[in-house]
Order: sequence, then structure tokens, then C-alpha cells
Amino acid sequence: MQGFSSSVPPIAKRLQGKVALITGGARGIGEATARLFLRHGAKVIIADVQDDLGRSLCDAVHNPNISYVHCDVSNDSNVQTAVNAAVSQHGKLDILFSNAGIAGSMNPSILSLDLEDLKRVFEVNVYGAFSAAKHAAKVMIPEKKGSIIFTSSAASVTHPGTLHEYTASKHALVGLVKNLCVELGKHGIRVNCISPYAVATPLLMGGMGMDKESVEKVYSEAANLKEVVLKEEDVAEAALFLSSDESKYVSGLNLLLDGGVSVTNVSVEAALAKISAKTKQ
Ligand SMILES: NC(=O)c1ccc[n+]([C@@H]2O[C@H](COP(=O)([O-])OP(=O)(O)OC[C@H]3O[C@@H](n4cnc5c(N)ncnc54)[C@H](O)[C@@H]3O)[C@@H](O)[C@H]2O)c1
Repeated sequence: MQGFSSSVPPIAKRLQGKVALITGGARGIGEATARLFLRHGAKVIIADVQDDLGRSLCDAVHNPNISYVHCDVSNDSNVQTAVNAAVSQHGKLDILFSNAGIAGSMNPSILSLDLEDLKRVFEVNVYGAFSAAKHAAKVMIPEKKGSIIFTSSAASVTHPGTLHEYTASKHALVGLVKNLCVELGKHGIRVNCISPYAVATPLLMGGMGMDKESVEKVYSEAANLKEVVLKEEDVAEAALFLSSDESKYVSGLNLLLDGGVSVTNVSVEAALAKISAKTKQ
């Protein structure tokens, strides 16, 4: 192609001139989103508690438009510092991807509920999202625009085997989206969330004690949609859509990336298949 050194066509930069803050940006879904946003021309600040990982990601991408800030989202003043970093470095904040999250302990029963664990999951997954939205809204309101996106989960609409405290925390985010969509919509700010099914990130691999391939195998077998595996990059593409002007009239949405798992009940089909196999014997 004339004028280009590579045969790869240039991509349309859908976030050119925009500034994005991504919490939980040091790895997993947040990292993939940071990389994609950079490719689309955004200036990106990643906020995380894993300082070494966050800084080495910034070094690895070789792009002056990314920076790292230490931020524990459960600490309101840390969150304020992260939002301030975006404004002091780039003069504004257009996009908040409030994505940091933890799974909690692997306790599957209400009978052995650990209240400290419940508290910690809510501190990170829910209070952290409230705090991020509060500080982002303060700088977005005067600009009369902005996009706030939370990472919820398919657990917000169905039961994909997640733990009680995690499931409840992800439902809370959907409620927050609905309320903020009303309050902040008056100021031109859109608020949405993304709800992925299962992505073999360190969060899921750690929780299951399995490697990437095994985790993907388990969830592919349980999935409704076959022949495709949900990856971090797919969630990043959804975040890109909700951040870009292509979604300028989308607000209050819980965007499910679940291949239809939440609107199906494969266990009924499996039970029927079992009965049919038995009657054939
Ligand atoms: N992986 C999945 O299957 C899946 C499915 C649905 C939703 N989600 C959600 O996606 C989001 C990202 O998860 P992931 O799968 O990429 O996991 P991950 O563990 O790979 O990444 C999460 C990131 O959040 C950071 N983090 C954790 N606690 C933090 C805190 N207090 N303050 C700031 N950062 C913190 C971690 O250091 C890490 O970098 C989470 O909200 C998770 O609940 C994940």
C-alpha cells in the first residue's frame, strides 16, 4: 500500500484525543483494554495495586501515552489520586473503565460464610466502583460528557457457578449503572457495564487452581455458543465500543458477553438427553 511501510492497513482510531482511566489495568481484562485503547489513540492511565506489573506493562508497550498510578480502589483517596493523575497529565478524563475486581475466598456455602471475606469483596468490587464513579463524575460533569463503564459479570443475570459474595457484588454494579445512568445522564455522561461469562485470566485460573487451557476447556464445555472461546481481547472490544462515540446514545446497558448462556438452560437439555439415552438402552 502506497505511503505505508507495512502491508497491514491502518486502523481507524476510535478513541483519538480521549483520556481513559482503567482500574485493575495491570493484567487480565484491564491490560488487554489498555493495549487496545492505546492502539485506538487514547491516552491511558492504568491504576492497580500491583505496582511492578503495572510499571512493566507501561515499559513493555513502548508508548508514551500510557502511565501507571498506584491505586487500591477500596481506598477513596487513592481513587481520587488516580483521577487527579489523569487530569494533571492530560487535562481531562473522558473514559473511566472501573474494572478492578476480586473473586473472594473459594467458600461455596452460606453456612460457612466469612464476613471479613464478604466485606473485602464488596470493598473492592462495589465500594471501589462507587468511589471511581464519584471522582470521575466530578471531573466529567463540567465537560458535559464522559463514559463510565463497570466490569460486572454474567453472574449478574444467571448463576455461572460463582461464589455468593462475588455474585451479589456484581448484581450491585448493575443497580449502580441504572441509578447513575439517570443522575449523570443529565450531564451528558453515559454509564454502562460489561458482563463477561468466563475468561481464563489470573483471577479465574487462580480461583480454580487450573492453567489457561484447562479453564477454557471447562467453560467451553459448559458454554451455549460453541467453536469460540471468550478472551480478554473480546471484553476489551466491548469496552472500546462503550467508550467510543459509536455508542453515543447507549446508556444504562448491561452488555452481556456470554454467548447466550444466560438465556438458555443447558442443564434441562442434558437431563433430557440422559433420559433419552436410558430409554434407548
Ligand atoms: N475472568 C473472568 O472470567 C471474569 C468474568 C466476569 C467478570 N470479570 C471481572 O473482570 C474484572 C477484571 O478481572 P480479570 O479477570 O481481568 O482478573 P485479574 O485478576 O487478571 O485482573 C484484575 C486486576 O485488578 C487488580 N486489583 C485487584 N484488587 C484491586 C484493588 N483493590 N485496587 C486496584 N486494583 C485491584 C489486580 O491487581 C489485577 O491487576 C473483575 O472485575 C472481574 O470480576 C472477570
